[in-house]
Amino acid sequence: PKIAAISVPFDLGAGRRGASHGPKAILDAGLLQALGQMDYTVDHVADIRLADDTAAPLDAQVDATNLNYFAEVIEINTRLAEQVAQVVSQDYFPLILGGDHSIAIGTLAGLSSHYHHLGVIWIDAHSDLNSADTSPSGNIHGMSLAVSLGIGHPMLTAIMGNKPKVKPENIVLIGARSLDEGEKKLIRSLGIKCFTMYDIDRKGMAQVMQEAIDYIQIRTDGVHLSYDVDSVDPIEAPGTGTTVKGGLQFREAHLAVEMLHEAGIVTSAEFVEVNPLLDDSNKTSQLAVSLISSFFGEQIL
Ligand code: ARG
Ligand code: MN
Ligand code: MN
Ligand code: MN
Repeated sequence: PKIAAISVPFDLGAGRRGASHGPKAILDAGLLQALGQMDYTVDHVADIRLADDTAAPLDAQVDATNLNYFAEVIEINTRLAEQVAQVVSQDYFPLILGGDHSIAIGTLAGLSSHYHHLGVIWIDAHSDLNSADTSPSGNIHGMSLAVSLGIGHPMLTAIMGNKPKVKPENIVLIGARSLDEGEKKLIRSLGIKCFTMYDIDRKGMAQVMQEAIDYIQIRTDGVHLSYDVDSVDPIEAPGTGTTVKGGLQFREAHLAVEMLHEAGIVTSAEFVEVNPLLDDSNKTSQLAVSLISSFFGEQIL
């Protein structure tokens, strides 16, 4: 299959700068060469960037309390959604390189133009289910999954049409270990499937992934993988803005994507929150290349 790589050098959804350098660091760590060796055709179709100075007018027009860089997040995600919708309509496999996790708003909005029952596998230390009312930080990367459910500021949920981009029953969270009170309430009240680190410890990653795959494939017409590298333990992934200890071990992180490849159910993917400014040499970018390669089918033997 042909892959459309889309870089999103954006970090204003996060509380710390630097994830904007993530796409370049992942490419410099050899992503295209690795995929090329596996017989994939990869077209690097776009770098999604802000036009220079649109922030002030939009901020002035709307009440965006506790929504940091609201205008910029809207702009980047509107552009990304259009690009994703375009490559999906051209039968590409969209591979989005972040950038902070706020860009999932645009990715999922773009995908919703094509899939009516989109599944989302969200591998993350967090659930990103806050809204301005519940967020402890105001950082929109902690709100992107809520926005995609239709929960949040109307100007965020309206990107690519004012409808939910994903239904709660079509989401699986994997790796959660830092959830805010409002997020816990939402997960419970909406019945969102959530495999926490406790579940991974208790059942093992292989069983968790098998349950996740079985759950999602019967109810969806496409599956998006949203992989936040902060799901991985900070020992292996130090280069990210919101590390939380007690995360996925190196092999668990790989097993998840190896099993997804084997299942053959995933139709788009994004890898987000690599922050080279916080990295220990290029450890986290190299981890991302290794995870993406495994996701596309690279095998040990
Ligand atoms: N729950 C915290 C917040 O909302 C942290 C979110 C971190 N999100 C991320 N994509 N790294 O501020
Ligand atoms: Mn996240
Ligand atoms: Mn339908
Ligand atoms: Mn996270």
